[in-house]
Amino acid sequence: MSRCCAVAVLVLVLAGGWRPCGADVGDFAPCLQFFYKSWPPKGLSGTPICQRYENQYRYATLYSRPRRSPWFSGYLYAVPAGKRPTASWKFEPQLAYPGADGNMIPFPPGPLDQNVVESQAVEPDYINSTFSRGHLNPSLHHHSREDRYATFTLTNVVPQKAGSNDGPWELLEQNVNNTLEAYCLGEAYIVTGIIPYQNDDRWLKNHRVALPEYMWSAYCCSRFNSSLPEELKETFPTFAAIGRNDRNSTEEIVPVDQTAKKQFRGYDVRRMPLETLELYLKERFNTVVNVFYEQCSGSN
Ligand SMILES: *[C@@H]1O[C@H](CO)[C@@H](O)[C@H](O)[C@H]1NC(C)=O
Ligand SMILES: *[C@@H]1O[C@H](CO)[C@@H](O)[C@H](O)[C@H]1NC(C)=O
Ligand SMILES: *[C@@H]1O[C@H](CO)[C@@H](O)[C@H](O)[C@H]1NC(C)=O
Ligand SMILES: *[C@@H]1O[C@H](CO)[C@@H](O)[C@H](O)[C@H]1NC(C)=O
Repeated sequence: MSRCCAVAVLVLVLAGGWRPCGADVGDFAPCLQFFYKSWPPKGLSGTPICQRYENQYRYATLYSRPRRSPWFSGYLYAVPAGKRPTASWKFEPQLAYPGADGNMIPFPPGPLDQNVVESQAVEPDYINSTFSRGHLNPSLHHHSREDRYATFTLTNVVPQKAGSNDGPWELLEQNVNNTLEAYCLGEAYIVTGIIPYQNDDRWLKNHRVALPEYMWSAYCCSRFNSSLPEELKETFPTFAAIGRNDRNSTEEIVPVDQTAKKQFRGYDVRRMPLETLELYLKERFNTVVNVFYEQCSGSN
C-alpha cells in the first residue's frame, strides 16, 4: 500500500467508513456482474479495476502495477455490430491519483503527467516498439459504441506480436464470436489473460511494461443450444485457448505449425478444455487458478 493510500485509509477508518483507495480501484464489488456467478477468477493477485467509461461500468480488469499491464480482463460478450472503431487511447486517472474520478479518459495532447507515466503504460511505450497493443477484452466482442470505445485503455492491453494479433489470435476472437453468437442462448462470460515468462520477466523497450509469453482466453456460456454440431460438442458450456506470443517459446504448451504462413508462424493458438488451461496456469503461476465458478459446470 502506498503511503498516501495508507494515510487515506487511516483517515477513512477514523471517519468510520472503509472505502478502497481511489474510485473503482482495489475492489471488484461494483463490477461483479461481468463474472460468471459474480465470481472473479481465483489464484491471481493484482489491482482490480472496474473499467468505467462515460459513467458506466463496462468490464473488469485485474491489473498489475509493477508490470504496468493487466493479468486478465473479464467481460460479457455481446454480438458485435459494424466495424472496429478507431477510438482514442485512454488512461485511468484513478491509478495515478487516489482521489481521481474513476472514468477512463483519452490521453490529452501535450506532455504527459508524470504520475500517470509512473502508474501505467502510456502511448510512447508502444510507439516504435516491435509489439502491437493487444486487447484482452477486444472491441469485436461488443455491441454498443461506448462498450467498444471502452476497450481502448492501456490497462486492457498487453504487448502482443503483430503475427499473433493479426493472425491466429484474431482468428480465435472471430471463432469465439461466431460460436457464441450461434449457440449461446444465455449470457457468455469471457475472461482473457496472459501467462508471464517463467523465470526473468521480459520488458517492452523502456523496461516499463512486461511482456506476456502467452495469452489465454476462456468462455462460460450460462445456457446453450444443446443441438450442437459434432465438432462443437466439447466446446460448451466452456472452452479455452492459449496463444503463443513469442516464436522462440518451446512447444510443450502450444506446438508450432511449420506449414503456417510465414508472418503468422510461431504464433499458433491451441484450443483446449478449461481444465487443461487451468493445469497450465497452475504450473506457471505455482498456485491453483480457477477461472470460473465450479468450472462453469452450473450452466444448462
Ligand atoms: C519513434 O521513432 C521516430 C523516428 O526514429 C522518432 O522521431 C520518434 O521520436 C520516436 N517516438 C517515440 C515515442 O519513441
Ligand atoms: C461476429 O458474429 C456476427 C454474428 O454471427 C457476424 O455477423 C460477424 O460477421 C462476426 N464478426 C467477425 C469479425 O467474425
Ligand atoms: C438450435 O440449433 C439448431 C441447429 O443446430 C437450430 O435449428 C435451432 O433453431 C436452435 N435453437 C435455438 C433455440 O436457437
Ligand atoms: C529468437 O531466437 C533467435 C535465434 O536464436 C534470436 O535471434 C531472436 O532474437 C530471438 N527472439 C526473441 C524475441 O527472443
